[in-house]
Amino acid sequence: MDHTPSSSPPASTVARTSGPLAGAIRVPGDKSISHRALMLGALAIGKTEITGLLEGEDVLATAAALNALGARAAPVASGQRDGRWFVDGIGIGALAEPEDLLDLGNSGTSARLLLGMLATHPITAFVTGDASLLRRPMGRVVEPLSRFGARFVTRGGTRLPLAVSGAASPIPISYRLPVPSAQVKSAVLLAGLNTPGATTVIEPQPTRDHTERMLRHFGAAVAVEPEESGGRRVTVDGFPELAAAPITVPGDPSSAAFPLIAALIVPGSDVIINGVGINALRTGLLECLHEMGADIALLNQREEGGEPVADIRARAGTLMGADIPAERAPRMIDEYPVLAVAAACARGRTVMRGLAELRVKESDRLAGIAAGLDACGVRVAVEGDNLIVEGDGSPPKGGGLIATQLDHRIAMAFLVLGVATKQPVRIDDAAPIATSFPGFIGLMKQLGATITEEG
Ligand code: S3P
Repeated sequence: MDHTPSSSPPASTVARTSGPLAGAIRVPGDKSISHRALMLGALAIGKTEITGLLEGEDVLATAAALNALGARAAPVASGQRDGRWFVDGIGIGALAEPEDLLDLGNSGTSARLLLGMLATHPITAFVTGDASLLRRPMGRVVEPLSRFGARFVTRGGTRLPLAVSGAASPIPISYRLPVPSAQVKSAVLLAGLNTPGATTVIEPQPTRDHTERMLRHFGAAVAVEPEESGGRRVTVDGFPELAAAPITVPGDPSSAAFPLIAALIVPGSDVIINGVGINALRTGLLECLHEMGADIALLNQREEGGEPVADIRARAGTLMGADIPAERAPRMIDEYPVLAVAAACARGRTVMRGLAELRVKESDRLAGIAAGLDACGVRVAVEGDNLIVEGDGSPPKGGGLIATQLDHRIAMAFLVLGVATKQPVRIDDAAPIATSFPGFIGLMKQLGATITEEG
């Protein structure tokens, strides 16, 4: 992705008041599961076949890095984007030293999880990313991974670009997460794979468990015990024999959230999103929307590839403000930008608590949501780590120009707002959407949304 400023003003993308949205769609594969399928496929012995892989820029960055580390990950039918991929794994302990920088673009998940793998391989790698990723904190993985014996040289002590030299004789660790982060948990567990003995992560609040599920799917023993606080203690034994296994990636609930909320806020809409993952550690948004009075049904619930899946039907109606507790944040961390859009259309006050982690996402999302809603005539405030949005039960004025700041979810959330507002909503850069949801604008148009690119 080239975001270099040029002399001509970049094209902006505009969403306009749309008629009722209708139809049945499928969203691309889950981003978290796609990264893990490629990574564990690379560490397994044999050929892993993946169906429904997200072919977004973030996941492609992971695939390129794994290829640079000696595995082979590629589409089954070269040149085709049908989500069918294979990975020829090389086995735990066999990563090769990359010849060049590993550039992970916009993807924090790629960077943090790959650092976990690299930390216990006796090779040196240089890791970088785009302007957004260079701003994000890496100390949260550098700190625990250093305890295995890995050595890091970082910019400013915590940022990319960084160099990592993995430990030749790693020491297993027991680590209590200081922030609820599935990326940090996963980085430590992945480092534990090439380490003798037991590696344990204690998470005070449960976070998405796709790494644990997929490790088991590949044959590793992963013990998960409850902690008194309501958290979990996750332990993996070193040197498991990971055997290649087929993987079906469900639709990404974090991507489904955008057309889902568009359907709720555009009067008269009735939309079905087929094949969406409903892992309980990802469904905080559905709980919030239920409390707000949304008309949502989970149809045809089933299990696919070890993950629960459903078709989700959403129909427009009046939403009510709600008080969203901080303890729910890890189960919906990526959904706040679009939940804030729903809150702007709801009647009354919505308080979203405990959002400190939003400040260190692809952009400072707490600031970005507040600035964007304010520009669209919404009453919004940030108080400490809480976001407060007031609505009167009808769509707000709109009319704002939104700075997306290399953040795909800010871009999509405000295009969703614009299909409901009285005046158009314009975003300055739609390019970041391709990191997680290629085809988003086309799918929204298919449902009946009016979204255009303008010079
Ligand atoms: C992810 C975990 C979350 C989430 C990110 C994907 C993952 O990040 O925001 O989009 O795949 O593990 P944190 O672990 O930093 O909360």
